[in-house]
Amino acid sequence: MNYSIAIFLILISASNQASSACFKSIISFGDSLADTGNSISLTPSNTPPRSAAPPYGETFFHCPTGRWSDGRLVIDFIAETLGLPLVQPFLGLSRGGDFNSGVNFAVAGCTALRDSFWAEEGIQIDLANASLAAQLSWFKELFLPKFCPIPSDCKNFLETSLVLVGEIGGNDYNYALLQGKSFQSVLAIVPKVVKAISLTINELIKLGAKTLVVPGNLPIGCLPVYLTYFITSNRTYYDPETGCLDWLNKFACHHNELLQTELDLIQKQNPSINIVYADYYNAAMQFYQFPQKYGFTEGALIACCGSGGPYNVDHASTCGSEGCSTCEDPSLHVSWDGIHLTEAAYGLIADGLLRGSFTIPPLSVFCAPPSSNAAPFIPLATETRTSDLLVGSEAS
Ligand SMILES: *[C@@H]1O[C@H](CO)[C@@H](O)[C@H](O)[C@H]1NC(C)=O
Ligand SMILES: *[C@@H]1O[C@H](CO)[C@@H](O)[C@H](O)[C@H]1NC(C)=O
Repeated sequence: MNYSIAIFLILISASNQASSACFKSIISFGDSLADTGNSISLTPSNTPPRSAAPPYGETFFHCPTGRWSDGRLVIDFIAETLGLPLVQPFLGLSRGGDFNSGVNFAVAGCTALRDSFWAEEGIQIDLANASLAAQLSWFKELFLPKFCPIPSDCKNFLETSLVLVGEIGGNDYNYALLQGKSFQSVLAIVPKVVKAISLTINELIKLGAKTLVVPGNLPIGCLPVYLTYFITSNRTYYDPETGCLDWLNKFACHHNELLQTELDLIQKQNPSINIVYADYYNAAMQFYQFPQKYGFTEGALIACCGSGGPYNVDHASTCGSEGCSTCEDPSLHVSWDGIHLTEAAYGLIADGLLRGSFTIPPLSVFCAPPSSNAAPFIPLATETRTSDLLVGSEAS
């Protein structure tokens, strides 16, 4: 794959462009929850990823973009809210890369832990050499030297960027759990995954990153693939309120707790850096608990695109393959293809992060007060958590 990266790099150049009031660009690492096209470039063209074909992309882009959804992802909504262009995939530079306002290294199917770890565990992973460490090395060794040959420019680029580290780690658990590893052995992986994330964060801080947003895992017990794989007639395994698999949601919470503990530590060690935890779990829990309230009238647990079964998931025939059908209106579903969410669901999560209370601390803290002619980052009047910021002022 390195040959193609080298060709693409020729197109990279640094120049100045329109920027948002808060951040000049977005730098992203992660997996399919944030992949805006990288996995297409990493896959041999005779076996393209499913996201390279319809119905992927049908809602917003009206064509497949490599995004693993019917439309925009959380990262797209963040970019839109910041007034920045959608973040280009690093490996997609053949489409004319301009990375001044962002670059995305996220690759669908990738893991936080390295390939060598999975080889030792006897676990098959989808794409070779695209783990979080690999993404970081593309950034350091391939991207930065071309994009900003002068080190102080690089530092400035990182300082003025919103750096997204994840979601990442979800696939580590997907591979292990869905390939039959015992729950105990998967539990033992969690601290390793969190360590891999924190190593990456520390590297990025060294390079000059100032504001890093680190998402946790989704409530995976609500994902149709897991509900199908671990289906049981024993009702005690299910959360009676949501119908989600309780033990898997507790597992996701366990990852999120360890991750937050680690983030707190990094924050203490780096008081001048902003480490923001993005609570995907609870942002998503809103619509798993009350799907109707958010317009998901088809329920939260049945995939839009699939081929039957109680959750519309059949491992033998996944979304995009023959024998699979797509629902009429994806916005009535939380789940797009059984593992990824619809644009509608991602939009709600993004809203929860950008305008709601699902980042710690609130993202709005890092945006300078808008100047008279700049658009404000967030409509403060509708934001509950930002009221905390007004403590001590005379706001009434
Ligand atoms: C992944 O990287 C390892 C170590 O650099 C290398 O030996 C291997 O060939 C690579 N695999 C692929 C499929 O590129
Ligand atoms: C259901 O699972 C619980 C443990 O989660 C177990 O104690 C109980 O015996 C199971 N019930 C049946 C009918 O298998």
